[in-house]
Amino acid sequence: MKTNASKKLFEAALRVMPGGVNSPVRAFKAVWTLPHFIARARGAKLYDADGNAFVDYVMSWGPLVLGHAPAPVVKAVARAAARGTSYGAPTALEVQLAEMIVEAVPSMERVRLVNSGTEAVMSAIRLARAYTGRDAILKFEGCYHGHADSLLVKAGSGAMTLGIPDSPGVPADLARHTFTAPYNDITAVERLLEAHRGNFACVIVEPVALRDLTHHYRIVLVFDEVLTGFRVAYGGAQARYGVTPDLTCLGKIIGGGLPVGAYGGRADIMKLIAPDGPVYQAGTLSGNPLAVTAGIETLKLLKKAGVYRQLEERGRQLGDGLSRAAREAGLQVTLNRVGSMMTLFFTPGPVTDYASAKKSDTQAYAKYFRAMLSQGIYLAPSQFEAVFLSTAHTPADLNKTVKAARAAFNKLKIT
Ligand SMILES: Cc1ncc(COP(=O)(O)O)c(C=O)c1O
Repeated sequence: MKTNASKKLFEAALRVMPGGVNSPVRAFKAVWTLPHFIARARGAKLYDADGNAFVDYVMSWGPLVLGHAPAPVVKAVARAAARGTSYGAPTALEVQLAEMIVEAVPSMERVRLVNSGTEAVMSAIRLARAYTGRDAILKFEGCYHGHADSLLVKAGSGAMTLGIPDSPGVPADLARHTFTAPYNDITAVERLLEAHRGNFACVIVEPVALRDLTHHYRIVLVFDEVLTGFRVAYGGAQARYGVTPDLTCLGKIIGGGLPVGAYGGRADIMKLIAPDGPVYQAGTLSGNPLAVTAGIETLKLLKKAGVYRQLEERGRQLGDGLSRAAREAGLQVTLNRVGSMMTLFFTPGPVTDYASAKKSDTQAYAKYFRAMLSQGIYLAPSQFEAVFLSTAHTPADLNKTVKAARAAFNKLKIT
């Protein structure tokens, strides 16, 4: 496989950008190889600067549920661009996207559009703090909710210790308001909420069963559906699992591949947002017509009958194929899948939380990643990320992927 063009671009990038990238995982450090610079993409395929083609399972880390450059979305965005890319003033398009979100996710009675998932979560937490008049927040170990200071915190050695900053630059004074608990451990959550009764503003989670507890302690339940919104069902994980949060954060898919985020929820909480209320939050490019148009067109296509059934079937085909191939190669792996997202962990499992996920053999993953890449399959360059399918992935793409995985697994068994 030719890589000269990517190598040259990476050298140039390293001279002007930290690590040569604008988001750390793109540098491929965890998989011990150099990143491929992408020149273009269409459907399920990525093409790099050297002309290599890959079946893409990163899909821009989730937003591209319809594949790369779906014609109706591209056409609508081009038309919108010709009318001006941002006005810093309200538009009919924003109302249309907000109406589509509110209809799809009934717990979101009001919605505010922002420019990224990070911004959505950060703003929802500020709002929960203002609503409750409390500072502490509870998150779960190993859960990523974007890079806002309050959220770059996980537990120290003990599960229920005070927050320790995960990144230099996060003030300890701020981190101490972030508590963490093990994922899937409702007893730990209850113990924490009881021990610090009256201090917690919100619990933030990628959805599971916390509704009763947060209601009991009068805490705002925030679902981070940046990844799962419009992916695991049109109405997100809350529709799939039937749990209603107070606030929801969205991103990724609602921007159809353009920068976007949104947070929203109960009208009585959302009315605190400026200019209705005192909680300040603003954005120069928030709700810009390009991102909003891409979002509207994407949601329209997702609403068509059979889309989620197709995503589920393709997810099952790939998940079953990978599990079978690993088993036949005698490897002990765990495949966790919800609909069209899945992660293959190199551990016998089960993987249910941060501690069990950390048991995965990341060196084996790196070898698997490189063996797949050399066969034209582009996976996430990190064990702790997911495979994302789109409606553009064909059964032939999936068969090719499983065949490549079989070869990769057999190679892994030998080395
Ligand atoms: C669950 C979740 N929340 C928040 C974020 C942050 O979103 P963004 O990268 O758009 O800031 C991500 C990004 O991967 C995410 O997966």
